[in-house]
Parts: sequence; structure tokens; C-alpha cells
Amino acid sequence: MAREADNRAMRDSTEQFNAHADKYATSEVHRFGASLPILLEYAAPVGTDVALDVATGTGNTALALAPYVAEVTGVDLAEKMLAHGAARAQEEGLTNARFVLGSAEQLPFPDAAFTLVTSRHAPHHFRQVDRFLAEVFRVLKPGGRFVLADQISPDAQIKPWLDRFHITRDPSHFTQRTVAEWRELTAAAGFQWEQDTLVPYRMDFAWWTQQSGCSPEAVQSLRDQMAALPDQQRGQIAAEFDGNGTLVAHTDYMLVVRLEKPSA
Ligand SMILES: C[S@@+](CC[C@H](N)C(=O)[O-])C[C@H]1O[C@@H](n2cnc3c(N)ncnc32)[C@H](O)[C@@H]1O
Repeated sequence: MAREADNRAMRDSTEQFNAHADKYATSEVHRFGASLPILLEYAAPVGTDVALDVATGTGNTALALAPYVAEVTGVDLAEKMLAHGAARAQEEGLTNARFVLGSAEQLPFPDAAFTLVTSRHAPHHFRQVDRFLAEVFRVLKPGGRFVLADQISPDAQIKPWLDRFHITRDPSHFTQRTVAEWRELTAAAGFQWEQDTLVPYRMDFAWWTQQSGCSPEAVQSLRDQMAALPDQQRGQIAAEFDGNGTLVAHTDYMLVVRLEKPSA
């Protein structure tokens, strides 16, 4: 039953991203968002690196790595997102980037195939994050780096509310883990936690709801959920209202963390 539910959720996620691939391809938040330069700094790519970007979407992270590495592969479930990445690689003359259909929980690559793995703005969609981490560990060479960037919940108390809020906006959202959860999960998978930072992303409400194709009912539900949130928790996500008390923005915090697979 759990396997069936996971498969259905993956199909829903693929549909959601295929349907909105054109919007993601031009999304400034995804293409230029502040987590990307930090991810690149933490990844410290070099010319001998063989890199993998998991849930690459339209290839923003893979294509940012391409000029610095020997080769980079972007893997994703949604073929329309991948098609944008491949088209951009061609336009930009990045001949060392390739895009492959596949799941984060079952990476279609041999053991120890990569020296560097990244995954940005995506793991909050993964239902089996322990399998994703085990797969990254498996495909990394010993001593390899793994840089993860994902939106987090500020604490365990606000997490159920925040997940409901995000799922109303995008049904393919699964959960925003806390930093403490990421520490536990990555340690259980065998990684060493090297360096981290939190990057605030101000989400303009009109842009944010349009990006994922929200219906008017979903937009109203989001407004109602925010109206019911206590002030202290509104403060945790920096909710902003105009003079009429209408929600205009909130902030998501992106964890960027550099992890290492210990040398054998
Ligand atoms: C917000 S987009 C990715 C953004 C991209 N990494 C970037 O840096 O701009 C999230 C992506 O995760 C992909 N995705 C969701 N669940 C996945 C899974 N289980 N395996 C692989 N890809 C997945 C979606 O298809 C979508 O393209």
C-alpha cells in the first residue's frame, strides 16, 4: 500500500512539473536564487569532477556546474523539465551536460560513478528521503562531496502547518524537514556534515501562487490558512501584509549544506 501511494505521488509530481515546465524554465527564483552561488561555493567544482544534479528540473544547477567540471548529468522525473535543460545546454554550447530521466530514490547510475552530487530546491518533494540519501551515498566515490539545498521548516511546531500551506499551493510538495532532521537523516546515511548556511527567500504571494498554477479556491484557502496562523508563527516565516491586511509575501528559508562521503 505504501509503495502504491509513493508511486502515485511520483506520478502526480511528474504531472505537476511537466504541466508547469515552461514557467520553471523562466523562473528567476530557480535560475538566479541566492542558494545557487552558495551551493557552487560549497561544491568547489574542479575540472576533474564528474558531477550529478538530482531532481535537476530545467537544469539550473547542472548548467551552473557545467563550465567547471569534466561532465555533469542532470536527472529528473519530469521529461518536459529535462527538455528545457537540454535545450539550454545546446544554446549555451555546454557539450559536457546531459539530461537523464530517473528517480531520486532509484538513481539509474552505477556505484561510485560521481565525485560531486548536488540537489537543489527539490528534496521537499521526495517521499522516501532515506532512499534518496542512500542512493546519493552509493553513487558517490569515497571522499566525494554532496551539496544539498532545500527549504526547511524553522521548527517542528510550525512544520505541519507549513506543509499544509505548501501542499495547498502545490500538491507535489511532501514535507519541509527541519535542520535537525536533516542532520539526523544525513548522519544515518553515513555522511559527514561539513558546512551549512540558511538563505532567506522572500516569496511574493502573487508570483508564488501563479508559478504553481493555483486555482482561485487554492489562493483563498492559502489566505484563510495564513489568517488563522498565530502572530508568533507568522513572525517565523516573515509573513507580510498590506495596509488592508491582505497577505503579500512570506519567507522560506533554504538550507545549503556541504556533506562528504568519508574516504574508505
Ligand atoms: C523546483 S524543481 C527543481 C529545481 C532545480 N533543481 C533548480 O535548481 O532549479 C523540483 C524538481 O524535482 C523533480 N522531482 C520531484 N520528485 C522527484 C523524484 N522523486 N525524483 C526525481 N525528480 C523529482 C520535479 O520533477 C522537478 O523538476
